[in-house]
Amino acid sequence: MLTPFELKSVTIPNRIVMPAMCQYSAAEDGYVTNWHRVHYGARAVGGVGLIILEATAVEKRGRLSNHDLGIWDDGHIQGLRELVQLGKEQGSVMGIQIAHGGRKSWGDELVAPSALAFPESPTPHALSISEIKAVIESWRQGARRAHAAGFDVLQIHGAHGYLIHEFLSPLSNERTDEYGGTLENRMRFLLEIVEAVQEEWPEDKPLSVRLSAVDYVEGGLTIEDTVEISKMLKRHGVDLMDISSGALLPADMKLGPGYQVPFAEAVKKEVDIPTIAVGLITQSELVQEIIFNGRADFVALGRELLRNPYWVLEAKADQDIWPWQYHRAMLRS
Ligand SMILES: Cc1cc2nc3c(=O)[nH]c(=O)nc-3n(C[C@H](O)[C@H](O)[C@H](O)COP(=O)(O)O)c2cc1C
Repeated sequence: MLTPFELKSVTIPNRIVMPAMCQYSAAEDGYVTNWHRVHYGARAVGGVGLIILEATAVEKRGRLSNHDLGIWDDGHIQGLRELVQLGKEQGSVMGIQIAHGGRKSWGDELVAPSALAFPESPTPHALSISEIKAVIESWRQGARRAHAAGFDVLQIHGAHGYLIHEFLSPLSNERTDEYGGTLENRMRFLLEIVEAVQEEWPEDKPLSVRLSAVDYVEGGLTIEDTVEISKMLKRHGVDLMDISSGALLPADMKLGPGYQVPFAEAVKKEVDIPTIAVGLITQSELVQEIIFNGRADFVALGRELLRNPYWVLEAKADQDIWPWQYHRAMLRS
C-alpha cells in the first residue's frame, strides 16, 4: 500500500487516495478560501499519495451548492494553482474532479437529459442538442483551466446521479435521439466529454473517470453496463477508473466495510485498467488486502481522512513518509 504506482508521466508515491469530497467552503462564485488551503495542505502533510480535489463545477448552474469550488472562469485558476503548489511541496500528487450536477444542482437552472425530476426536486429542463454541445465545451474549458493550474490528474465526475450519470442511466434518460436509448447512445455524452477534455488535457498526464457501478434500482445501470462503459473509456484513452455506486435515485443499499470493492475488482479484471476502490474502508489491513490481492490499484479513504489526516503516517513509522518536522513524534516511546 505504500509502494509507488506510475501512471503515464506521473508517479503516485503510494496507493492511498483522498477522493473528491465537497467542502461547501468556497467563496461566492467558486473561489478557493483558507479552508481549502488548510484542508488539502493537511492531507498532503499527512502523506496521502493522490489528493483529488472536490467536485469543481464546470458551469455555474452545475454547482451542487452555492459554495462549491468553480472552474468555469479563468479567474479560478490562480487559487487552484496555489492548492496544487501546497500539495506538491509536501509530496502529494494533486488531482481535481470536474463536475456538473445536472438535475441535482443547486439553484433553479436545472438541466438534464430528460425532463425527469429527482424525487422532491423541481423538474429539470431537457437539454437540446445545441445545449449539449455547449455543456461539453464547458468541460473542455474546465480541463484547460485544470491544466493551467498545474494539476497532474484530471477526474471527470460521471457518478452519483449528476449530469453524466443521468445520461448513462436509462432511469433518467428517456431521449429518443442519438444521446438516448441504447447503452452506446447513452454513453455518447460522456465519450464526447472525454474527447473534448483530451483536446486540452496533456497526453502524458492521467485522465480518470468516476462512475457509479450500479444504480441499485430495477432497470438501472448494472455492473455489466459499467464494465462495457469502462471498456469504451479505456479505448478512448482513459487511464484510471474510480468506482463508486448509487445516488441516481434513493435506493436500498447494503453498506459495510469495502462494500464497493467487488465493483472495482470487476472493472479491473474485465477491462484491465487501473482502478480506485472506495467506500467504508478505514483499516490498513483491508487496504493491504485489496492492494496485495490485486483487487484494485488504489484505495480511497473518504471520511476516514476527514477524521484523521495523518492516517498514512500512522500506518507506518518511516522517515521517508513522515515530514522531517514531525520525526520526533514518529516513535511513541
Ligand atoms: C463530505 C463529503 C463530500 C463528498 N463529495 C463528493 C464529491 O465532491 N465528489 C464525489 O465523487 N464524491 C463525493 N463524496 C463521496 C466520497 O468521495 C466517497 O466516495 C464516499 O464518502 C465513500 O467513501 P468513504 O466511505 O471512505 O467516506 C463525498 C463524501 C463526503 C463524506
